[in-house]
Formats: sequence, structure tokens, C-alpha cells
Amino acid sequence: MQLLVTNSPFTSEQAELLNKLLPTLTEAQINWLNGFLTFYQAGSAGTAAAELASGAVLEATTAVPAAADVPQGPREATILFGSQTGNSQRLAGRLAEKLKGQGFDVTLSAMNKYKTNKLKETPYLFIVASTHGEGDPPDNALTFYEFLHSKRAPKLEGTKFSVLALGDTSYEFFCKTGRDFDARLAELGAQRIADRVDCDVDFEEAASGWIAAVSSAVSAAPAASQVSVAAASVGTASAAAESEFTRTNPFMAEVLDNLNLNGRGSDRETRHIELSLEGSGLTYAPGDAVGVYPQNDPELVEEIISFLKWNGDEAVPAGKAGETASVRTALLHHYEITVLTKPLLEKAVAFSGNAKLAELLKPENKEELKAYLNGRDLLDLLRDYEPWTLKAQDVATLLRKLPPRLYSIASSLNAHPEEVHLTIRKVEYEAHGRKRKGVCSVYASERLQIGDKLPIFIQQNPNFKLPVNPDTPVIMVGPGTGVAPFRAFLEEREEAGAAGKTWLFYGDRHFVTDFLYQTDWQRMLNDGVLSKLDVAFSRDTDEKVYVQHRMLENGEELFKWLQEGAHVYVCGDEKHMAHDVQAALITIIAQYGGKTQEEAAAYLSELQEQGRYQRDVY
Ligand SMILES: Cc1cc2nc3c(=O)[nH]c(=O)nc-3n(C[C@H](O)[C@H](O)[C@H](O)COP(=O)(O)OP(=O)(O)OC[C@H]3O[C@@H](n4cnc5c(N)ncnc54)[C@H](O)[C@@H]3O)c2cc1C
Ligand SMILES: NC(=O)c1ccc[n+]([C@@H]2O[C@H](COP(=O)([O-])OP(=O)(O)OC[C@H]3O[C@@H](n4cnc5c(N)ncnc54)[C@H](OP(=O)(O)O)[C@@H]3O)[C@@H](O)[C@H]2O)c1
Ligand SMILES: Cc1cc2nc3c(=O)[nH]c(=O)nc-3n(C[C@H](O)[C@H](O)[C@H](O)COP(=O)(O)O)c2cc1C
Repeated sequence: MQLLVTNSPFTSEQAELLNKLLPTLTEAQINWLNGFLTFYQAGSAGTAAAELASGAVLEATTAVPAAADVPQGPREATILFGSQTGNSQRLAGRLAEKLKGQGFDVTLSAMNKYKTNKLKETPYLFIVASTHGEGDPPDNALTFYEFLHSKRAPKLEGTKFSVLALGDTSYEFFCKTGRDFDARLAELGAQRIADRVDCDVDFEEAASGWIAAVSSAVSAAPAASQVSVAAASVGTASAAAESEFTRTNPFMAEVLDNLNLNGRGSDRETRHIELSLEGSGLTYAPGDAVGVYPQNDPELVEEIISFLKWNGDEAVPAGKAGETASVRTALLHHYEITVLTKPLLEKAVAFSGNAKLAELLKPENKEELKAYLNGRDLLDLLRDYEPWTLKAQDVATLLRKLPPRLYSIASSLNAHPEEVHLTIRKVEYEAHGRKRKGVCSVYASERLQIGDKLPIFIQQNPNFKLPVNPDTPVIMVGPGTGVAPFRAFLEEREEAGAAGKTWLFYGDRHFVTDFLYQTDWQRMLNDGVLSKLDVAFSRDTDEKVYVQHRMLENGEELFKWLQEGAHVYVCGDEKHMAHDVQAALITIIAQYGGKTQEEAAAYLSELQEQGRYQRDVY
């Protein structure tokens, strides 16, 4: 049907544009647009981001007639998530609630808990997956990822699917896991009913759009009377959701304490920060993290404003839709100014009169671009690619929202009611001739005062949790700030009077200045809450000693603990430590379990599948 002024509410120009566009759309694009328009309409009606996040807006989508050719069989949907820090899991839970509301029998499951022999039977398959490491799947997606990409993966011609990919455009392999799943499912013959959505760090709106699109695409399925058994493993509804304070509506937590844990003469600074949760209704469990919305460095903000000769008081879009703030406040609180990404440079080209910037973005200069982005910030870009026509008003177009930083919780709520404690190490380094300051850690170290209010939310992490049985032994490996969650674990076990054995491997540079929470561990050792403590101070001896060396030295006993059912937890540096610790575990299992390296690796994978080997790495 051709749209005309007479048969539609559009002007002739609008009708012409739509007549051009509509015939070019694929079925998946129409479905996506369906959902998007519902979401857009609700958003422009002033709906707060928090409401979007809660899924309230999405209710409207059930009324949208779906264009999808949906199967008329039972209304069953399988939602699988691969999540390291909980975002994908939470979004998968939201889709599950949405589809259940539409009368679907939903199976919601972590990928590693899903029985793959059911895959072929599922009429609808929805995947929500983040990317970690250097383009790697999250831990709980690994086995499913490998299965799906192997020859054993079944043909999926009878399956309709869609993928939501979470990631961060500042990483080289942006959303790689989700992209791989999307491509592989299509290769196996599954039919995409809503296009994949790739989310950057500020994922709420894009994810809500995807949920709406999926909901819309499936809404022409048979009536709700066909609802059968309740979902098998829907159970991720968040405790934090019981509070009104969320990622999109953070709680202003009062700072009760902020002390440096490192001794005088240390080359590191690690803050122990105590925050009040009073009146928030927020709760958490050991293993969860706190998301902190930081402030940018005021000096850097002033340098940018003065470089561009802006009036710092000019009002610009900032915060929720329709809100404004002075450009100074916007750069301090709302926009990211310390990270360069390819999408940012692609937008910046329009405002730069320097042809070299467009040159840098050409596909043949991929490697130069990668090198340029590494370690540079907005001020570097401005200085390097003059002249600029950027106006203060353009910040909203050009810049990403300032993302929150996550910190592993270092306290037990039972030991410290209505409080949460964090362990934040200051990040400072030199790059491209300038001193660089980590946004959040430097804010916490240099400017955050007792009595200040810090915007926070609780980020649940179901993938890093103490065993349910208090008698189960636990082995904790946490060098540096990686030790933070283990203070929470041990306080929790102390409060519960748990009998299970506990073993902590801790390491840092120097015994005298860098032994974080030393007195806590000593007291816990005395009280029997901590059964064993092994430490590795890397710079007190000629040869470096790391936690994995202590593990290897204690290999026989460590393997005995594993055989007794111990759970192993690793927290801290992802790039080196976590890999080396994993290699040490495999060596120990091989040596004391009489296994080959392959068998030992399979043993560890099995522990991971059972939730007995959990990692919280960054
Ligand atoms: C689940 C999770 C839990 C975490 N828990 C903790 C915790 O308990 N304690 C803690 O301190 N941190 C923790 N982190 C890390 C924390 O979230 C922040 O990433 C960290 O504090 C740095 O943030 P920032 O804003 O200060 O620095 P940013 O402004 O974000 O700068 C950090 C970036 O600077 C770059 N960089 C850092 N050092 C160098 C260098 N030497 N050379 C070149 N580039 C460099 C890297 O690109 C790095 O990503 C955790 C992260 C995650 C994901
Ligand atoms: N993504 C981010 O934004 C971000 C921000 C901050 C920190 N991090 C990461 O988080 C990690 C934790 O930082 P941190 O400051 O708490 O501690 P850390 O740098 O990990 O240092 C803690 C101890 O671990 C040692 N170590 C170094 N390499 C190791 C290895 N391969 N295996 C085992 N131990 C090793 C260090 O020794 P030496 O130093 O003597 O070698 C030190 O004694 C950092 O390494 C960093 O990569 C990430
Ligand atoms: C240590 C670390 C490594 C990451 N690596 C990547 C990456 O390679 N590619 C990417 O797109 N995103 C990367 N991210 C961003 C995450 O995918 C993003 O934060 C996502 O929202 C996390 O979702 P989850 O909580 O479901 O795991 C990384 C994040 C962390 C903390």
C-alpha cells in the first residue's frame, strides 16, 4: 500500500520518505522497528529511564500486531545468558518476565546450566551475552559457545532466534561473543526474528529496544491459554530490584569513612571506603559489586572548556531525556572524556577541519587508529586534530555517557548492617607525555570526603557466591584489590558461625606497606574463621613470588581440599594473574590427581560447570 496524505496522518514529504523506506525493510527489520517505535513513543512521552529499565514501557508492545511469521505450536521460549558481572543475566531476566507476561512458557538459564540436547526442540531461542577478556565469552558461556561452534551443534531450521550482545566500544573485539552467536545460529539454519542489538556500556535504552522488538516479534503466537508449566529456571529476579535504587536511579550513599590501607612509603594507594545504605532499602550478598558513578577530573574539564573557548555555564543536554546542565557540570558528571573510541572519532570527523582525522579512519589505517586510541583522551584528540567547529551543544552527540565503575563489595551486610565497604586502588600512569588519572579511583582517593554523597547501585553477581552449604571448604585467591570480596566472604561466614574450612591466598608488592586488611586476617586466623593464610609479596625478594607459587608449594593439600568438595574463588587481575592461577590449578590437579594436562583441564572445567570454580576478574 502506498502511503498518501489522504490515507495516512503523514505530510507528503513524510509519506514519500516512508514509501521509499518500507519496501526495502526485511522482516527482521520490520519487527525491530515495531518494538523500537513503541519504545520511542513511550520514551518521548517523558518516560524516565528507570521506568524503561523496569520494563514498564514494554507492556504496550503486546498490542502491536507482529509481522513475524511465527510458528503456531506451543508458546515456549528459551532464553540463555552468558554473563560475567550480571548485566546480561539481569536483562535476560527482564525478557523472561516480559515473555511470561505474554503467556510464554519460558526456560531461562545460564548457558553452562542448559542441557544442549533440548536446543533442537526450542521454537524460540533468545541469547543475551556479554564479551570479556580480549573478545572472550564470559566464564558461564564458554562450554555452550564451544558446543555451538563445534560439529556437534544441531541444525536449527525450526528455531527462531535473536541475540542481544553486551560490550564496550573501547575494546577491540566489541560484542564479539554476541556477534559470534548471532552468526553461528544463522549458519545452523535458525531464523532471525529480530536483528541483533550490540550494546555499549550505556546499554539500558538499546537493551529495552531489543526486548520490545523481541516481544513484538513473538506477539502473534497463539493465545495465552496455552501457558504450560512455569519456567524451569527463572529465578534471577534481583533482590536489589526490591529497592527503588538501581543503575538508572542510583542511591546517594553517604561516605562514612575513607582511609588509605597502604602504609607510608608505599608506591600504591588503596582506599577502604565505608558507605551508608541507610534508608535505601538496598541489600547485597558477598560476591556482589557496587556500581559507582564517578566525577571527572575538574582540571581536565576546565582544560577542555578553555581549549574550545566555550562558556562553561552554557546549558547543554545532560542526564535524563529533556534535562540540561551547564557544559561544565555535564563534562564533570555526565559524559566520558577520558576514553577515545572509534565511534567517537567517526562522529568527531564532522566537527574537525583537519583532513588527517578522516585519513586515520580509513580501513587501511586500522592499525594506526588502534594505536592512536590506546591511552589517549578527548583533550589529546582536540589538540591533535585542530581546527574544530565543535559547539558546547554537540557534547551530547559526540560523547558517551560516563559509565559507572564496579567495585567488589568488601563487607558482609550481617556484620555491618546498612553499610557497604569498598576497596579502591588509585590508578595513575603516564601516557603520551601526560599524567593520566583513573576517573573513579582518583576521585575516590583525592576528592571524596567523609560526609559526601556518592551515587551508587548494587550490581548483583550470581556467578560469584559462597557455597550454600556452610560446611563446604572454600579456597580464595585474591592478590591486590582482588582480596576485597574475600573480606566479605569471611565476615559472612563468621556471622553465620559456619564450620567450613577457609583458605586465603593473598599477595601484593611489599609486606610492610601493602598488606591490605592485615589485622582483619590475623584476627580471623586467631578466631578460626580463616583456617589458612598464604601470602606472596612480590617485591620483597630478588625473585618475584606470586600467589600461584604459594598454591603450587601447597599443591598436595590444595588437591585434597578439592577432593573434599572445596569451592575455588579467584578475584583480581584478569590479564595475567587469573590465567597463571588457572594454569597452576591445572598443574596441581594433574600432579596430585594423577592426570594428564588435558584431563586436569577437563576436571577444572567440570568444577566450573558445577559452580565450584568461580572467578570475579577485571
Ligand atoms: C567486577 C569488577 C570488580 C572490580 N572490583 C574492583 C575492586 O574491588 N577494587 C578496585 O580497585 N578495582 C576494581 N575493579 C576495577 C574498577 O572497576 C575500575 O576499573 C578501576 O578502579 C579503574 O577505574 P578508574 O575510573 O579509576 O580508571 P579509568 O579512568 O577507568 O582508567 C582505567 C583504564 O586506564 C588504563 N590504564 C590503567 N593503568 C594503565 C597503565 N599503567 N598504562 C596504561 N593504561 C593504563 C586502562 O585502559 C584502564 O582500563 C573492578 C572491576 C570489575 C569489572
Ligand atoms: N580494567 C581496569 O580499569 C582496571 C583498573 C585497575 C586495575 N585493573 C586490573 O586489576 C588488577 C588488580 O590490580 P591491583 O592493583 O589490585 O593488583 P595487581 O596489580 O594485580 O598486584 C597485586 C599483586 O599481584 C602481583 N602480580 C603481578 N602479576 C601477577 C601474575 N601474573 N600472577 C600473580 N600475581 C601477579 C603483583 O606483583 P608485581 O606488581 O610485583 O608484578 C602484586 O604483587 C591490575 O593488575 C589491573 O590489571 C584493571
Ligand atoms: C575485564 C573486562 C573485559 C572486557 N572485554 C570486553 C571485550 O573484549 N569486548 C567488549 O565488547 N566488551 C568487553 N567488556 C565489557 C563488558 O562486556 C560489558 O561491561 C558488559 O556490560 C558486561 O556484561 P555482563 O555483566 O553480563 O558480563 C569487558 C569488561 C571487563 C570488565
